[in-house]
Amino acid sequence: MSMTARQLSRVHRGPRTSVFGPPSRTVALHPTDLDIADGESIGIIGESGSGKSTLIRLLLALDTPTTGTVAVDGTNVDFTGSAASLHWLRRRTGLVFQDPYASLDPRMSVGRIIGEPLWALDIPGDRRARVREVLEDVGLDAAMAERYPHEFSGGQRQRIALARALVHRPSILIGDEPLSALDVTVRAQILEQLAELRERDGLTLVLVSHDIGVVQSLCDSVAVMSEGRIVERGATADVLHHPAQEYTRRLLAAIPTISPERD
Ligand SMILES: Nc1ncnc2c1ncn2[C@@H]1O[C@H](COP(=O)(O)OP(=O)(O)O)[C@@H](O)[C@H]1O
Ligand SMILES: [Mg+2]
Repeated sequence: MSMTARQLSRVHRGPRTSVFGPPSRTVALHPTDLDIADGESIGIIGESGSGKSTLIRLLLALDTPTTGTVAVDGTNVDFTGSAASLHWLRRRTGLVFQDPYASLDPRMSVGRIIGEPLWALDIPGDRRARVREVLEDVGLDAAMAERYPHEFSGGQRQRIALARALVHRPSILIGDEPLSALDVTVRAQILEQLAELRERDGLTLVLVSHDIGVVQSLCDSVAVMSEGRIVERGATADVLHHPAQEYTRRLLAAIPTISPERD
């Protein structure tokens, strides 16, 4: 699935700073163009507050842009329309957040949590069977559907969140720092699973990450964000090893995990 953003921006207006003064204004995203090709895996990096979450929330129509458009496979997203008018977009997209615990209802069985998008999006078929299948896709046991979130470790809960994002077979998976709460071993396992799913299902992947190792192993390309702008975009090896921007150089220098270049 391809995505195209044109002149996409988001300004937040706060309260007036004085009675006669103008409202305060935060530009979370300056007018931005971005093309994501079908089957591409793109990493988005940048310091905290640079606009990464704003960008992906706009791409998913979880927020309304101040200016600009988003098109998915050539069809424009209708930001002002009803929930029903966005059904097609929800059907084709999956989202994983950083903190799986906050997004998992403790009173619901894991099977119900994972299966919920199938009911919400009214997707036909044997839903219980699909839940068992996707549990196995993310490296969990199908029998875990009967259990509850508190019975799982952090790594398992992150897999549950991933299964929930994948259960309706989206064409694009978007993760907002989906692996940053995990230890190195679990992260590596989930990375491997994501790479496999990508290979098998041709998933398009958009991954916001602080971890250059994650970007390096999973992403074909990288977009670097600073102060609400994409300041650099290119093939992963080029951006990580031959950054064009001073900002990217400084960002990478602050992250010690980058591995030596292989040619
Ligand atoms: N709801 C909001 N109201 C006001 N400012 C916001 C809001 N959401 C984000 N911002 C601001 O927009 C900028 C970008 O935020 P964000 O996209 O969350 O950055 P990142 O995900 O890269 O850390 C930050 O300066 C942030 O404070
Ligand atoms: Mg963020």
